[in-house]
Amino acid sequence: MSPVFVLVGPPGSGKSTIAAKLAERLGVPHHDTDTAIEADAGKPISDIFVDHGEEHFRRLERAAIVDALKDDQIVVSVGGGAILDPDTRADLAGQTVIFLDVSLGEAVKRVGLGVARPLLLGNVRTQLRNLMEARRPLYVEVAKLIVLTDNRTPDSIADEILEHL
Ligand code: S3P
Repeated sequence: MSPVFVLVGPPGSGKSTIAAKLAERLGVPHHDTDTAIEADAGKPISDIFVDHGEEHFRRLERAAIVDALKDDQIVVSVGGGAILDPDTRADLAGQTVIFLDVSLGEAVKRVGLGVARPLLLGNVRTQLRNLMEARRPLYVEVAKLIVLTDNRTPDSIADEILEHL
């Protein structure tokens, strides 16, 4: 058994928003692994990074993903760096994975409006560009469908995903 959809993509691609929309349209629960990690740890991800470091966060993230992938009939959104783990990429090979793509300019705009991200401190544009360039092949590797999210409403993106899959 497996989730209906798993959404991957860089910070600012709209994973949580679109996953929530898809879950609503399908009438199934939405499971966001970053939210689950924060709930379990009792603190925000930025504090987990500061208190325990990125490696520790990645271990929690891997465990949260293993947990989420056990569930049937849910829509899962994962953090932007989840696909760095080769075991996670292997697990995602059997799933209906959607890569939410976004331009650098749009991602910078969206990230600027959201919560602080520990890997995007300092020059957000430069950090985000480096991270997007390095990870793009990994998002493409796991994706069954790639959807560009620039200048689109969550509803139109959800429509496209539901039409194709
Ligand atoms: C991360 C992205 C974040 C969060 C953590 C690490 C990353 O999630 O998991 O800060 O490595 O890109 P979003 O993609 O939802 O911002």
